[in-house]
Parts: sequence; structure tokens; C-alpha cells
Amino acid sequence: MSELSVNHLLGIKYLKEKDIQLIFETADHFKEVINRSIKKVPSLRDITIANIFFENSTRTKLSFELAEKRLSADVINFSAGQSSVKKGETLIDTVNNILSMKVDMVVMRHPNPGAGIFLSKHVKAAIVNAGDGAHEHPTQALLDSFSIREKLGDVAGKNVVIVGDILHSRVALSNIFALKLQGANVKVCGPKTLIPKHIESLGVEVETNLKKALNWCDVANMLRIQNERLDISYFPTTREYTQQFGVNKTLLDNLDKEIVIMHPGPINRGVEITSDVADSKQSIILNQVENGVAIRMAVIYLLASKIK
Ligand code: CP
Repeated sequence: MSELSVNHLLGIKYLKEKDIQLIFETADHFKEVINRSIKKVPSLRDITIANIFFENSTRTKLSFELAEKRLSADVINFSAGQSSVKKGETLIDTVNNILSMKVDMVVMRHPNPGAGIFLSKHVKAAIVNAGDGAHEHPTQALLDSFSIREKLGDVAGKNVVIVGDILHSRVALSNIFALKLQGANVKVCGPKTLIPKHIESLGVEVETNLKKALNWCDVANMLRIQNERLDISYFPTTREYTQQFGVNKTLLDNLDKEIVIMHPGPINRGVEITSDVADSKQSIILNQVENGVAIRMAVIYLLASKIK
């Protein structure tokens, strides 16, 4: 397979397993490129990309921008807070105005689930979902699986537990889709109030005992509580959440085997994960961030090759 089966990256749900393998093989090449002294290739000199962010971001925004620049694309950045959205301009009008400046691709983060899908039906450009509310964050899931593959050799057959606020997490949903597509075994662990009803229909198991979940897994992907999406209280206090679902060094050191620790960031140190775990040799958190650039280069390159 030499091209993606999709024209947009709206969610992992719309990808085939072969798409993921193609993205990984392409990212392997770009990872080698970004470790050279000259970290740039001329591949997308004829492509212009707009990064439009309606929600805060550190990793995803900078990683996309760097990926685009490493591919020699022209890049423009838009933050809703400083834009005419504040004067009442709609999403479609905003994007169509940007596209009239001869933009080929839009990378969008938006608080509304499905915003990228909606946009893809109304504008003429390739759309990349950089996180849509509590729905999907496909490039995060791709870079997470790529990091597991890099660390453990393969994703198929590995036991992965996703711990924390599963209910409000786009990272959890995209990871579940990506891991299951590649043949991993997936459990979710967290307070019952933060686990969606019927999540087993996605082929995952629920484990509410963190120690049991950690003893089962090869990889623990720790998620933060999405406080910005909590309208009510889902657990008594943060201290009690940490006692039941936070990972600390004592817990890790008392497991039957050494497991890999992941976190998509931003970390709330001392809540879902202690500093000595986040900064331990078992943690691949900064490798995830490094791999994000190669994965985003691969996604953009492969989508751009379909519009050339
Ligand atoms: N992981 C992630 O999406 O981080 P940002 O919100 O900083 O982009």
C-alpha cells in the first residue's frame, strides 16, 4: 500500500490497519531525517498549511508547525482568541477566508466533537483533526502506538492499560481504536464515574483496581483528569483520586515486572503520576513528544500526496 485510504485524518475510527502501518513506515523515514544535522526535506515546497486552534495546546500545535516546516511547507497559524471569531465569524466563513489565500490543508483543534468531520463536508481542503473535544485525537494515538512499537518492537499482542478520566478523553478513544486495530489487548482503569457505559463494546475490559491493572499490563498510559470538561464532581477529592488511581514509584517497584509508562501530557505531577515516575527510566513521555514530529510529518506528507 503506497497511499492512505482516506483524504482527511478525522479520527482513527476511519483508518484501516494498513493506513497505520503506512504512517509508521513513513514516520520511520522522517525520524531518521529529523535526527540528521540538516533536519529538513523539500517534499512540500508547493503546499500551504493553516494550523487553526480554537483550544489551548503546547505539544500538538508546536509539533504540527515543526513537522510542516521540516517538510518545507508554507505555514500560517491562527489562534481563535486573537481572531475575528471573537466578532462572531462562523467556523465555515473563517476557514473559507483562510482557504481563499490558497491554503491546501487545515490542521484544526476545536472544543466541539465532530468539528473536523463537519468542516470536511463544507470546505475544499484536506482536514487534519488535532483534537475535537472529548471525541478523537488521532495523531496522539498514532504517536503513542509508534512509541510502543519503538520501545517493545510491536504493538500486536501487547497488554496496554489506559488509566484515568476515560469519559472525557479524546486520547483514550483514539488509543482504543488504534490499539485494537493493531491487535493489542486493552484495559481501561479509573473511577467508575469516569468510565463510559458500554465501553466493553469497543473490545476493552474495565479494571477498577489499579494494582491489578498494572500487574497485567506491559504499558500504562496515564491520563490527566480533564478538569476543563468536568461539569460536576466525579470523585470526592483529588487526594482520594490520587490514592486510588495515581501511580507512584513504590507501586511501580512492587510490581511483578517492569512496565512502560506513557502520558500524552500535560502532566499534573503528584495527581495521576508522581515526578519520580514521570522522570524515571521506565517513562517514555518525552520520546512520545519526539515521535510526534515524525508521525505528523508522515500524516501531512501522505495526505498532501493525495492532493498534488
Ligand atoms: N497531548 C496534547 O494534545 O497536548 P497539548 O494539549 O499540549 O497539545
